[in-house]
Amino acid sequence: MKTIIEPFKIKSVEPIRFTTREERTVYLQQAHYNPFLISAENVMIDLLTDSGTAAMSAKQWAGIMEGDESYAGARSFYRFEKIVKELTGLNYVIPTHQGRAAEKILFSIVGGKGKYIPNNTHFDTTRANVEFSGAEGYDFVTEEGKHPEVIAPFKGNMNIEALEKFILEKGKENIPVCLITVTNNSGGGQPVSMKNIRETKMLLKKYNIPLFLDACRFAENAYFIKLREEGYADKSPKEIAQEMFSYCDGVTMSAKKDAIVNMGGFIAMNNEELATQARNLLIITEGFPTYGGLAGRDLEAIAQGLEEVLDEHYLQYRLRSVEYLGNKLTEAGIPIILPPGGHAVYIDAKKLLPQIPPHQYPGQAVVADLYLIGGIRSVEIGSVMFGKYDAHGKLISPEMELVRLAIPRRVYTQSHIDYVIECAIEMYDNRKSLRGFSITYEAPQLRHFTAKFKPID
Ligand code: F0G
Repeated sequence: MKTIIEPFKIKSVEPIRFTTREERTVYLQQAHYNPFLISAENVMIDLLTDSGTAAMSAKQWAGIMEGDESYAGARSFYRFEKIVKELTGLNYVIPTHQGRAAEKILFSIVGGKGKYIPNNTHFDTTRANVEFSGAEGYDFVTEEGKHPEVIAPFKGNMNIEALEKFILEKGKENIPVCLITVTNNSGGGQPVSMKNIRETKMLLKKYNIPLFLDACRFAENAYFIKLREEGYADKSPKEIAQEMFSYCDGVTMSAKKDAIVNMGGFIAMNNEELATQARNLLIITEGFPTYGGLAGRDLEAIAQGLEEVLDEHYLQYRLRSVEYLGNKLTEAGIPIILPPGGHAVYIDAKKLLPQIPPHQYPGQAVVADLYLIGGIRSVEIGSVMFGKYDAHGKLISPEMELVRLAIPRRVYTQSHIDYVIECAIEMYDNRKSLRGFSITYEAPQLRHFTAKFKPID
């Protein structure tokens, strides 16, 4: 087979500022070893996130000029609404400024004390919004999704048996909604099969619990289904996405991912009463229902991005570029979550650095070293992001200690990725000399964004 090329030409470029290792040593110290506190101009290859970091197309930029900035009833809203409705089949579409605003609205309405929210795996903002409402979030990812080295096609699947047990234990009346996150970001960007979405829906129907998709990366998930699930090879990504959405009662979406824009999101649902409550809350927190925290031009760019993301050549290139990075790291001996995910490669820091226990944050050591070696910014998804303390102040760690290398959409070329691979191999060769970290400052919620660290000698 011929090389899968980037299915675009580059019309506008942004220079990368080169830095030396000495300079980066200072920047890292000044940032208290937290990648979120490093100035972006001091980063050479930014793999912190694939969220809001995409390169927009010429058509999206044209849409920005076309945006209708009317306060109410803007043409851009109707274009956005039409495209979301056609894709999701949902009746009520409410724009929000990003994904977590949609989550905040949803859980403010259905959450609260005594409520339980199941998910395959909650993303950090989703969990934070569930808990902020007073409700509790529980994760039910399938067993194979908990083992990085296990190769399976749909490691993001919901464990339906465990979910049913949970519903019976907590009582269906206390579970206002169940979520499935596609792809499963916190579990390695792993996809969920159509069969699993369908069967989850069937179970929930029995108990009258609505199903919402956290649909940030719905197109990547759809393409994995096309490649891996029987019966879907000849369907278009759009048809597959439409079938995925057909099993849902609602959607929360961060458009910063698979709508290939820099800002935006939405919540959509079929329940009219819920939609009315959501709109009322939206007016207080985000804006009037036909713009919801966004400009008309943002809605145009989202509408255009939702069409472009379903292009087969784009999705083939997208999944292949992540797989290329994952395969090269695996060949070099670096343990990653297998198979590589849709938007990111996740290094298994627990396995890579057995000398650093979870309470000394092995993932943070990898993040710091990749920055020092090559100015590469990555993020820890492990005890820093999800660690909690028990009543005695002892750290309770999540099952995995990961480092995510997230690939922004349409931003980097293969030579950038080759450079990342070289730096990762250098980090691997250093691995025995890496040391852990202690935390010197942390916020009560979402601590990873602002925490300060100190290296342990
Ligand atoms: N759900 C999932 C699965 C996500 O990955 C994110 C964001 C959100 C919800 C929230 O969306 O950022 O627009 O408010 N994930 C980003 C990331 C931040 O880096 O993975 P948001």
